[in-house]
Amino acid sequence: MKETKEEALVNILVLGSGGREHALAWALARSPRCSRLFAAPGNGGTAGIAENVAGLDIEDGEAVAGFARENDIGLVVVGPEALLVAGVADAVRSAGIACFGPDAQGAQLEGSKTYSKQFMETNGIPTARYASFTEPEPALSFARELGVPVVVKADGLAAGKGVIVAETAEAAEAAIRGCFEGAFGEAGSTVLVEEFLTGPECSLLALVAGGRAFFMPPAQDHKRAFDGDLGPNTGGMGVYSPVPIVRAEELAAMQDIMRCAAAATAADPFANDYRGVLYGGFMLTPKGPSVLEFNVRFGDPETQVVLPLLQSDFVDAACAIADGRPDDVELAWSDAWAVCVVLASGGYPGAYEKGKVILGVDEAGALPGVTVFHAGTARNADDELVSAGGRVLNVVALGDSFEEARARAYEACACINFEGKRYRGDIGKRAAAGRGAWE
Ligand code: AMP
Ligand code: GLY
Repeated sequence: MKETKEEALVNILVLGSGGREHALAWALARSPRCSRLFAAPGNGGTAGIAENVAGLDIEDGEAVAGFARENDIGLVVVGPEALLVAGVADAVRSAGIACFGPDAQGAQLEGSKTYSKQFMETNGIPTARYASFTEPEPALSFARELGVPVVVKADGLAAGKGVIVAETAEAAEAAIRGCFEGAFGEAGSTVLVEEFLTGPECSLLALVAGGRAFFMPPAQDHKRAFDGDLGPNTGGMGVYSPVPIVRAEELAAMQDIMRCAAAATAADPFANDYRGVLYGGFMLTPKGPSVLEFNVRFGDPETQVVLPLLQSDFVDAACAIADGRPDDVELAWSDAWAVCVVLASGGYPGAYEKGKVILGVDEAGALPGVTVFHAGTARNADDELVSAGGRVLNVVALGDSFEEARARAYEACACINFEGKRYRGDIGKRAAAGRGAWE
């Protein structure tokens, strides 16, 4: 007999503190099945819809499991990859509590780029030619063989900073030596040297359980700090979903690759009963989509545009994935377009000041189709909303067309003010111009 919604009420704990976690909490809170909702540590945005939990060491799986038991949590949703690599999902599941996110072995798909490449090779998944090294000299000679540009990657987690695209032989050498000399700490003790691929990038995220993949609409991030894709890489300055420039055959090829990867997470030698999000980062090369990386969690800021398009119940889907019940996963998507513009602190991704009072968030959120997710905010002693990070707010707008969503997002950005506010003015501009803008 199917449980009624009331019988299936569940207390939920979200782990993490960024815009992604605010979007996760927002989507969970919309479900009639969500009873108490906790965010640890959460941020100024989750504080409005969940109970923020201070002082819990979220990298400590036993501590998380203990908190979950004490608070009768039925579902733990893990945001950041570092927690998954640290085995938080293993500890929560061992305590008999459902957890959305793969165990530590599954998380190696993101935690070790060499492991991830071996997974791709074993399963015939298209990816750039590469080799991995534990000493500089053979790495330098392989880089010379590939020619420039060439890509140098630290094997382990480096908070999104461990990838260097070297345009010259000198830059390649400096990158390789820098990795081995500890530029990315322990993460760089193994180094991948990789063929440089060209084309637009596109992310395709899937919920995965029982070796099956359930797709979200594709998304496209803007990683560079400044307009025109100039300046240093950031955690993401804007994103949209779906992606107007992706061709139908490319989407089908990406889905085939993700299905193959999902099936492999349930088959030898990678069998680990993967339960969570598998994030495929693709380059749409002239020869077809090629995997740049797998991530083992929701994207940030991709989540902020994808979850507002979800029309079915997110708690139902998250519980089915966490319980390993793929037959019960149902996802229904709106056919709207979503665009997100990130409001950052002046100076980000370099040094920036925190504690700037933020005005206009409610006015922005009252505009048609607009939702404002908090990425780095807090409340000060006077209970004012203040900036507390490099990326401060994620302004998301839905529209019936890509242009309408873009225009609404920018209208909302103009309503919000804090000292030093900075954002890119060209999120989606290249995509609106068509695929030719990449050729
Ligand atoms: P990753 O963390 O592996 O996704 O790499 C971060 C960024 O580096 C990607 O989003 C790409 O912009 C770039 N990148 C990574 N690998 C390659 C490659 N093989 N060719 C060209 N660009 C790459
Ligand atoms: N937006 C890129 C990521 O989440 O890895």
